[in-house]
Amino acid sequence: MKIAVVGTGYVGLVTGTCLAEVGMEVTCIDIDQKKIDSLKQGILPIYEPGLEEMVLRNTEKGRLQFSTNLAESIQGADVAFIAVGTPPGEDGSADLKYVLGVAREIGRNMNNYMVVVTKSTVPVGTANKVRAALEDELSARGKNFDFDVASNPEFLKEGAAIEDFLKPDRIVIGVESEKAEGIMSKVYKPFLLNGHPIIFMDIPSAEMTKYAANSMLATKISFMNDIANLCEIMGADVNMVRKGIGSDARIGNKFIYPGIGYGGSCFPKDVKALIKTAADHGYKMQILESVESVNENQKSVLFNKIQKHFNGDLKGKTFAVWGLSFKPKTDDMREAPSLVIIEKLLAAGCQVKAYDPVAMKEAQHIIGNKIEYANDQNEALVDADALLIVTEWPEFRSPNFKVVGKLMRDKVIFDGRNIYDTKEMHDAGFTYYGIGVKP
Ligand code: UGA
Repeated sequence: MKIAVVGTGYVGLVTGTCLAEVGMEVTCIDIDQKKIDSLKQGILPIYEPGLEEMVLRNTEKGRLQFSTNLAESIQGADVAFIAVGTPPGEDGSADLKYVLGVAREIGRNMNNYMVVVTKSTVPVGTANKVRAALEDELSARGKNFDFDVASNPEFLKEGAAIEDFLKPDRIVIGVESEKAEGIMSKVYKPFLLNGHPIIFMDIPSAEMTKYAANSMLATKISFMNDIANLCEIMGADVNMVRKGIGSDARIGNKFIYPGIGYGGSCFPKDVKALIKTAADHGYKMQILESVESVNENQKSVLFNKIQKHFNGDLKGKTFAVWGLSFKPKTDDMREAPSLVIIEKLLAAGCQVKAYDPVAMKEAQHIIGNKIEYANDQNEALVDADALLIVTEWPEFRSPNFKVVGKLMRDKVIFDGRNIYDTKEMHDAGFTYYGIGVKP
């Protein structure tokens, strides 16, 4: 199989590399010459566990190539994946200019049948626009050969993307011809060894599946955050409630951890986009509107607890922050709750000393030198009035609390991810605040 993947962002790079890993001939294409040059040398634009080794291995074997030349790279391809960005426009809708721009360029250059697959998260109806763009360009060239469009949303989690691609829970593909279905089956056959299915469906349903999945997951989180906040008011413990409801198989025990709000490049963007798509068609997504507003409020709960603890007197206080990325195992800072918390602390006249195992450089780009960056987690604690757990990196789970307490000015912990046990913290002499638990 010969595959072209356009866009070497997170989705494109993981897709291309994993397809090469199972033996396909893959070219990853990007307009960014610098990015392509770096990739050729095995330097990746993102941090994703396991990806760098896999890129190097497949580049060495010659199965994975990088190029800025789309026209050349799509010749003879069986499948061209479009995996470029869909940044949110000002009104929350996904901006399709890159996706449709790539479709046009494919149309200007394709010389054989291929399946043109949208892999980026795109609103329902986009595949039709991709088809129209391709037809337009082909007819401008006086060509009239066959092609197919398809929609193949991805369900990768940052930090676990390779595992998710190689052993997917399911693969969803929207197609409209048997020929395209046959080719896409061939592409994904090597990844179905764990018995999980490819679900073929019509294209609009595939496009909707992605938004429905992310919106449902975001809903679970906002729901649990709402319950956690109420638990605090009512003197209940959300950790117990979570276990209590999660053991009902209909509810499930995954993705019901309260915290300081969901972030990242997907949930916030996709929830907004679905609300907007619905509104454009005269329908109000009432639940999702609430999901969004609960999430916005949740990013402030840790700061509100801090303010209450210090009776509003925060000026001159120093806070250690453990974790900056929106979740562990990534350096992604997009929509990270840490940004909101840090901004509030700085506005209140506090000093912040932060540490993150991989996101420090990324954070520095965004936050700049308004905060201090510690070389390790203990250094961040020196003379801190309190410690904030913002991202639940594994290395923060079991620190030596004797050392932690000694380094800090005061033994206070605000845990935005409930990684510690209240009783253990009290026994160790800490004042401890979690989310949805009694202080
Ligand atoms: C999410 C989806 O999980 C993927 O299936 C999807 O492919 C991806 O978006 C996408 O659309 O590309 P991702 O954004 O990498 O993946 O991160 P998640 O692990 O889903 O976490 C999202 C946010 O929810 C994080 O901020 C995390 O801290 C938060 N979260 C997650 C909670 O607050 N509680 C939980 O129980 C789980």
